[in-house]
Amino acid sequence: MSDFPRLGVNIDHVATVRNARGGAVPDPVRAALLAEEAGADGITAHLREDRRHISDEDIERLMAALTVPLNFEMAATDEMQAIALKHQPHAVCLVPEKREERTTEGGLDVARDENRLAHFIAPLRDAGCRVSIFIAADRAQIDAANRIGAEVIELHTGAYCDAHAEGRFADRDAELTALAGMSTYAHSLGLEVHAGHGLTYETVAPVAAFPEVKELNIGHFLIGEAIFLGLTPAIHEMQRLIQEARK
Ligand code: PXP
Repeated sequence: MSDFPRLGVNIDHVATVRNARGGAVPDPVRAALLAEEAGADGITAHLREDRRHISDEDIERLMAALTVPLNFEMAATDEMQAIALKHQPHAVCLVPEKREERTTEGGLDVARDENRLAHFIAPLRDAGCRVSIFIAADRAQIDAANRIGAEVIELHTGAYCDAHAEGRFADRDAELTALAGMSTYAHSLGLEVHAGHGLTYETVAPVAAFPEVKELNIGHFLIGEAIFLGLTPAIHEMQRLIQEARK
């Protein structure tokens, strides 16, 4: 098995385009199957409480059609827990949807909601789902994710990518240093480390180079790039950059 980080392709924004008109096209499941064929190691989809992109039916169809693992992103609500328990996807990634669930850096505030989240993830783990928590590069959040029994943390790379896009390079480098340090720290606790949000061809390499990172989840940029290149070449270029960074 290669030591390269896995690439999870997030297909939410194919559904965003579909929903802009209603109807059935473009179909996110078709995109997921194409991504799988192009060599994606997994597919990520976020069923939001407001169903603004992915729908319940999309999740059903993805579960039926995919041969690679589905990483099901969801808020920590009873409704979403019931849906996850019904489908039992390979992985469940808990993400914040409301302002009050978030830390200032944008990840889930696990530390604030530790007791409830510990009870929330127990049945998901019992059902065999790998539970991942989307958090900022913050030691207190990592400690809390570890205490509640998560197996995986996904580090939020949004602040790093925003700083790069806005030309705030000192901030970008500080974010990257924090991500690197917290990636090492989480790994030392026995957590599997994933990363994602906002990654592009320009920003992926330094994160892919962290030796502890096992998976990168990338969506918006790839779906945008697919307009110009097609989804398959866009994925291949991202994989090339990821593998190059790790060599
Ligand atoms: N990882 C998580 C946990 C996310 O919530 C998202 C966005 O849905 C992504 C990765 C992918 O982010 P982007 O679409 O910006 O690449």
